[in-house]
Amino acid sequence: MKVAVLGGGPAGLYFAISMKLRDSANEVTVVERNKPDDTFGWGVVLSAETLENLTRNDPVSAVWIRRYFAYWDDIAVFHRGVRTVSTGHGFCGIGRKRLLLLLQRRARELGVDLQFETEVPDPRPYMDTHDLVVAADGLNSRARATFAEVFKPDIDVRKCKFVWLGTHQKFDDAFTFIFEETEHGWVWAHAYQFDPETATFIVECSEETWEKFGFGEMSKEESIATCERLFEKYLGGHPLMSNASHIRGSAWINFPRVLCERWSYKNLALMGDAAASAHFSIGSGTKLALESAVALADYVRSEPTLDAAFEKYESARRTEVLKLQSAARNSLEWFEEVERYLHLDPVQFNYSLLTRSQRISHENLRLRDPEWLGDAEAWFHRQAGNTGNTRRAPMFAPFALRELKLKNRVVVSPMAQYRAVDGCPTDWHFAHYAERAKGGAGMIYIEMTCVSPEGRITPGCTGFYAPAHETAWKRLVDFVHADTEAKICAQIGHSGPKGSTQLGWQESDAPLEDGNWPVLAASDVPWSPRNQVPKAMTRADMDMVRDQFVASAEMAARCGFDMLEIHAAHGYLLSSFITPLTNRRSDEYGGSLENRMRYPLEVFRAVRAVWPQEKPISVRISANDWVGADGITPPEAVEIARTLQAAGVDICDVSAGQTSIRARPVYGRMFQTPFSDRIRNETGMATMAVGNIYEPDHVNSILMAGRADLVCLARPHLTDPYWTLHAAVTLGDREVKWPDPYLPGRDQIYRLAERSATMGLKV
Ligand SMILES: Cc1cc2nc3c(=O)[nH]c(=O)nc-3n(C[C@H](O)[C@H](O)[C@H](O)COP(=O)(O)OP(=O)(O)OC[C@H]3O[C@@H](n4cnc5c(N)ncnc54)[C@H](O)[C@@H]3O)c2cc1C
Ligand SMILES: Cc1cc2nc3c(=O)[nH]c(=O)nc-3n(C[C@H](O)[C@H](O)[C@H](O)COP(=O)(O)O)c2cc1C
Repeated sequence: MKVAVLGGGPAGLYFAISMKLRDSANEVTVVERNKPDDTFGWGVVLSAETLENLTRNDPVSAVWIRRYFAYWDDIAVFHRGVRTVSTGHGFCGIGRKRLLLLLQRRARELGVDLQFETEVPDPRPYMDTHDLVVAADGLNSRARATFAEVFKPDIDVRKCKFVWLGTHQKFDDAFTFIFEETEHGWVWAHAYQFDPETATFIVECSEETWEKFGFGEMSKEESIATCERLFEKYLGGHPLMSNASHIRGSAWINFPRVLCERWSYKNLALMGDAAASAHFSIGSGTKLALESAVALADYVRSEPTLDAAFEKYESARRTEVLKLQSAARNSLEWFEEVERYLHLDPVQFNYSLLTRSQRISHENLRLRDPEWLGDAEAWFHRQAGNTGNTRRAPMFAPFALRELKLKNRVVVSPMAQYRAVDGCPTDWHFAHYAERAKGGAGMIYIEMTCVSPEGRITPGCTGFYAPAHETAWKRLVDFVHADTEAKICAQIGHSGPKGSTQLGWQESDAPLEDGNWPVLAASDVPWSPRNQVPKAMTRADMDMVRDQFVASAEMAARCGFDMLEIHAAHGYLLSSFITPLTNRRSDEYGGSLENRMRYPLEVFRAVRAVWPQEKPISVRISANDWVGADGITPPEAVEIARTLQAAGVDICDVSAGQTSIRARPVYGRMFQTPFSDRIRNETGMATMAVGNIYEPDHVNSILMAGRADLVCLARPHLTDPYWTLHAAVTLGDREVKWPDPYLPGRDQIYRLAERSATMGLKV
């Protein structure tokens, strides 16, 4: 086979080597525009796993590469004058130039024809004369541009500015992150050693800071001198160096995230950065390039046709790329938003940094550095006011709001049961909530309990509007207080445009088959074309509903609930005011966010006035309508939270969506937690995170990283009322309190857990 490889970076060279290894009769030519030793950039990071993959493919070059590897286990973070070190991270790195020289040598040895100083402006002549052409010509691939219509590259130019520099200052004891506050904002460096003399030193900052410094107008030398001044105390007198002499101007760039819809056309395939890039902060660009090279060489050999080989190559590698790009996106977004986290205590800041890509979990960190994690957990407990044993997972730290004191951070999220009769909770509710209260969570919610019969979502929804409701709820609250340590929160709401609909397990949100009642909303916008057109509320309607909220809050207070939550999310009445998707009013309750918040705030203030001063009030919001700029976006949710905070709301329960049938949510583990993170860290308001959080590890990492104060779990509590007690068993925590009658069960489950752990170790 006659093969042309365009670009002699890691992808191109390693593909050439891999093709020769699979069949020495392959005629392989690499065409590279630079000179052999004229390569730019500093160290590249690889993992032990990548090296194993390389060893399987070509033990010879793997041995050479390994010889030049610099290893480091620690990550050090300089933040607010404190250097925090954690260990067990296991990286290795090699100079980019060294790597390329080794690969060139190996390619030559195998008979690859290396043609340097040859620019390829257009891949087509090579496609005519070769059986297979691989375009490994990097981020700004000319080949990709030539067939842009086919490959449909999606290039997302990211917000931060960065420059690759090197230094002879030693960073050989740890991969080091340095955050420096300067006269123009924060600037940070990623520094790591890659050979005995040299370390990579990447300097990064926001575009705003970059502009204030005037880096764009500086020469490269001036830029470097400025960076040397900023990081003087870390450089030990060593200069910073640039070897990107080919780049004109200051050499700062914005990272472009590249992803192509297709990676092949006719006999040409894209590879490495040309096909897909991964942000340098997860150090995977070279890994992706090398592993893709191996994959394509394998498929070209194993598949009967080039088309079949390309198909397999794309489908196998695309999954890997998407996984890494997702981790890379989390990581780069963390750096883009780092100013949100810089106020955190160094311990929490460090934790947040280490878990930024969401690839490293809480327990994974424990495996890497148990001592560091134990200290971090103890810090968490101390700042939470725990005066007892602080060697416990963060989920078991206490939490206080006004005079409410929770024994831990796990909350049973509100979940409608649709079992009420005329709004009255039944034995079902008593049994259901009593079980959850015994299950170990710090607080349980009752479902959205409606302020009027018309304010119910379904005929099965509970209410706070008749004396019988009060009697039934009080019985439950009294039980929870007498027999458990849990606190209990009442969620009150009005269904608005989503009212008069079917039970949850019927056709959710669809109108009733018969017996519908009229519904109210901010505007006459129906939930869906099938739902009733609601009446746009008049001022008299608003007075009436506000007073119903107040009467319900008074009833909840008489029942003895410990906290109250006003439901202003999910498209129900108050939510229909907040989101512009359903609020079309032209009076002072519509239009600007300030206007859209006016009625929900009026309801809150009226409720606050009657709710006991010592007890907190929460508001649940939908922090993202998931329809893009037409609806509520996460930055607007921060503004919503600010208005709630200013009005005296104690905690924001950050949910999302369910406000429009147009919504296109992006689901995933903990998918709504970033909205809570943003609100908490930009406003300082206490928050609750909710949504697809189901493992103790999720809860602990959310809390430890400061992404929420409390964590709500809904569906996991449907399948396991004792979720918290079971989490304690999993974590080996014996301090949680079990109900006395259940102690024999407790002893058995811990014994069984210990036994299976021992057996696991023996295996
Ligand atoms: C200048 C530079 C420095 C880098 N430094 C680091 C680093 O220090 N640490 C790190 O982790 N990652 C670094 N990276 C990123 C990482 O190296 C890439 O993810 C990885 O190199 C991807 O490999 P690749 O072979 O796909 O692309 P590249 O390494 O970019 O290789 C592409 C090659 O194609 C050649 N080429 C491009 N266009 C043409 C053309 N029209 N004709 C002929 N030849 C062409 C280029 O000269 C280059 O040699 C760097 C990337 C670049 C471009
Ligand atoms: C059966 C069921 C009923 C729910 N009822 C309510 C409710 O009454 N009030 C509310 O705010 N959210 C309600 N939710 C949403 C949950 O509180 C929670 O936000 C959502 O299920 C995501 O959390 P999870 O992934 O842990 O289930 C309900 C969810 C379920 C599954």
